[in-house]
Amino acid sequence: MSTTVQSTPQQQTPLKQQDEYRFPPGLKLNLPFYFLRKFFKPADPIALFEHLARTYGRITHYMLGTSHIVFLNDPELIREILVNQAGSFIKERTQRRMKILLGEGLITSEGDFHMRQRRIAAPAFHRQRIAAYGEIMVRRAAAMRDSWQPGQRFDVSAAMMTLSLEIVARTLFATEVTDDIREINHEVNVIMGLYNFLVALPRAESYLHLPIPGLMRFKKARRKLDAVVHRMIADHRAYSESGGEDRGDLLSMLAASRDEEAEVTGQNDANKSSAQSQMSDEQLRDEVITIFLAGYETTANALAWTWYLLSQNPEAEARMFAEIEYVIGSGATGRLPTLEDMPRLRYTEQVFAESMRLYPPAWAMGRQSTSPIELEPYRFPAETYFFFSQYIVQRDAANFPDPLRFDPDRFTPEQKATRPRFAYFPFGGGGRQCIGEAFAWMEGVLILATIAQKWRLNFVPGQRVGVQPKITLRPKYPMLMTAELR
Ligand code: HEM
Repeated sequence: MSTTVQSTPQQQTPLKQQDEYRFPPGLKLNLPFYFLRKFFKPADPIALFEHLARTYGRITHYMLGTSHIVFLNDPELIREILVNQAGSFIKERTQRRMKILLGEGLITSEGDFHMRQRRIAAPAFHRQRIAAYGEIMVRRAAAMRDSWQPGQRFDVSAAMMTLSLEIVARTLFATEVTDDIREINHEVNVIMGLYNFLVALPRAESYLHLPIPGLMRFKKARRKLDAVVHRMIADHRAYSESGGEDRGDLLSMLAASRDEEAEVTGQNDANKSSAQSQMSDEQLRDEVITIFLAGYETTANALAWTWYLLSQNPEAEARMFAEIEYVIGSGATGRLPTLEDMPRLRYTEQVFAESMRLYPPAWAMGRQSTSPIELEPYRFPAETYFFFSQYIVQRDAANFPDPLRFDPDRFTPEQKATRPRFAYFPFGGGGRQCIGEAFAWMEGVLILATIAQKWRLNFVPGQRVGVQPKITLRPKYPMLMTAELR
């Protein structure tokens, strides 16, 4: 990529370097002031991103204190960060607060260490391995749907949380939702509840030792969480050491998997976890909490939004019902779906895809540059933060005409081929693309088919609907639905 600047940064004084950078137009005001004045109560990052995209288009720059912030709203620029120039970016500070919960798990770790962990974890997420989970997903969804009564009213977002928690417990730990799992869930929710508080505290991670009430609650919750997870890891280790058969759960696979590449080349000693090629208990703890968190709330939210959108779009709902009936039958003559049905549940998959376009569970991402970055015609210094939002890009009329309309036909193979890769990226992209993506598609489609085979879920009129952009994009209010037998 060419640049208007010829000299290399190493040859320059810091003062001169400043001249070498070219920034796109953006907010002139001090952002905290701007943010407070315009969006305070409650601070709404989506409103800020929408404002930036509307006002400045595909790229904009502003300062937050001494930090350079760039907000991108363009699929090609996002590809530059996640793929083409990925080697010049880390997650580091954009994830620092997550680290105090997730440690050095797959989401938060960096560089060679991350690559090694990803290599070790990959077999556990391989399509063939996760195929066995399909049956668990369907069985759990069937048990839930069979417990409902016609006319019953319930909060679909809470129901989807319960269901995906059960599925994670069974697939990740080979256990039912026991007290242990309930405790993990409870402590994680306490921590999530404190997340906004932690975000508001600059550098919260550096004074965790101080007796600040919110931080003390956080630490207590984390201690309890760790105790439960460590006990589970010890149980799993004891079970496999006593010759117990492979239960096929993720934790067993992660505990047993080895970094074979490192074993061959003998390069496995350069990280904190182990001089061997297996994961240490500490590292397993970080991976387990990471996968637990990444794998449960995201899918639950995606499903809750899907039921809402279906209830508002009877035509799409009818087409999905017809497909499900055609593939697996309905009523007394129907059978439960299996993984093998997935290729024929195409429209159901498109419904799930379109739902994640409008309500992407991971609604924004960030990276920090480790060296000067060129995005023609601009040039940014090292340590610039780059942010982009699935929520904003996926609602851009440039790629999705009439963007607020729910239209699953946007995801036919022909339609998909007309768009740039990063017009739609609910699972991120590049080397750090979601490792659980296949798991999530399977879970989404099989749960939709199992429940919709029996029920139509009707949105109770008069309720407020809104988004709550936490770590995932949660519904802001309960979503009451009435179950109607089909
Ligand atoms: C609809 C459901 C899901 C969505 C929308 C989603 C979204 C994402 C996104 C956007 C990323 C990339 C973040 C970044 O690069 O900054 C990611 C990473 C990740 N996801 Fe998911 N995810 C989902 C389900 C799952 C499931 C079911 C699991 C595990 C069972 C999982 C485990 C992970 C892990 C471990 C990473 C980190 C990967 C790495 O950096 O190597 N996710 N996810």
